[in-house]
Amino acid sequence: MAAKIDEKNKKVLRHPATVRLIHWTITVSTFLLIFTGFGQMPVYKRYMVDQVPGLAWSSDFSVTLIIHYLAAIALVFAAVFHVVYHGLRRDFHILPRRGDLRESYLIIKALLTKCKEPPCHKYLAEQRIAYLFIASSLALIIVTGIFKVIKNFPGVHFSEGLLYWMTMLHNLGTFLVIFGVVAHLAAFVFRENRALLPGMFTGKVDLDYIKHRHCLWYEELCREKILELKEGSDEGKVA
Ligand code: HEM
Ligand code: HEM
Repeated sequence: MAAKIDEKNKKVLRHPATVRLIHWTITVSTFLLIFTGFGQMPVYKRYMVDQVPGLAWSSDFSVTLIIHYLAAIALVFAAVFHVVYHGLRRDFHILPRRGDLRESYLIIKALLTKCKEPPCHKYLAEQRIAYLFIASSLALIIVTGIFKVIKNFPGVHFSEGLLYWMTMLHNLGTFLVIFGVVAHLAAFVFRENRALLPGMFTGKVDLDYIKHRHCLWYEELCREKILELKEGSDEGKVA
């Protein structure tokens, strides 16, 4: 953990490679699921998307269904991995806390009026809320998607009512996810948030930015570092 703060290069390791790999797996699979999900409805033929060079397959139901299934497997794997990985590490920085709504309001107000922000942890309050929103929309889509897969098994019969509701909720989840992703990307329109972008590519973000904007997380990292140095010197004494 001590290696998280790199004083020499003025960087902090914010997202290790595993976290980045999972984020990008979720991103690619979600984009594919949205595109092929709309392909289940005959919109690409109607709007001639299948005339675009390289996209002739987009109006072929059997092709979009197979891609939808493959992307669903990747999404479910990444989602389960994410929950187990952070659960085992007891890393709950991203879960919403009491008072997040009010804190989000103060942060957005500070962004717009250029006044001082409240001190922040690893994630800003609105990022924790955004996470809950995206995660629960994806969970809704995964659960209803599993029903829709089982429905396609030979010999399986669900009632009309159940199928109707599963389809409705799957479609509702689609719009919630699209809304969540647009809002997630719109956050980077603000210059103050853009310093977080390199974190999802290289893992590292600027140390001074963290000291200034995520000072509560920085203090936590410093405490961990001191503890590890102390443990290291105690082990040295025993040896
Ligand atoms: C971001 C994730 C996803 C999006 C945006 C999405 C979107 C859609 C849309 C718009 C449809 C067409 C309308 C409908 O029939 O309800 C659809 C169909 C379907 N989706 Fe998804 N979906 C996603 C994830 C999943 C997952 C994770 C699974 C499976 C675990 C899944 C399984 C299915 C199935 C089986 C169908 C119906 C295919 C058929 O007509 O037989 N989807 N999806
Ligand atoms: C389907 C698409 C995507 C989904 C579902 C998604 C989801 C998430 C979630 C849930 C987080 C956690 C914290 C937060 O909400 O800020 C996150 C973090 C992040 N995402 Fe995405 N994301 C997507 C696409 C993208 C894209 C295209 C980019 C870059 C252009 C991006 C850049 C980032 C960055 C930089 C962070 C880390 C922010 C930080 O360090 O605090 N994401 N993403």
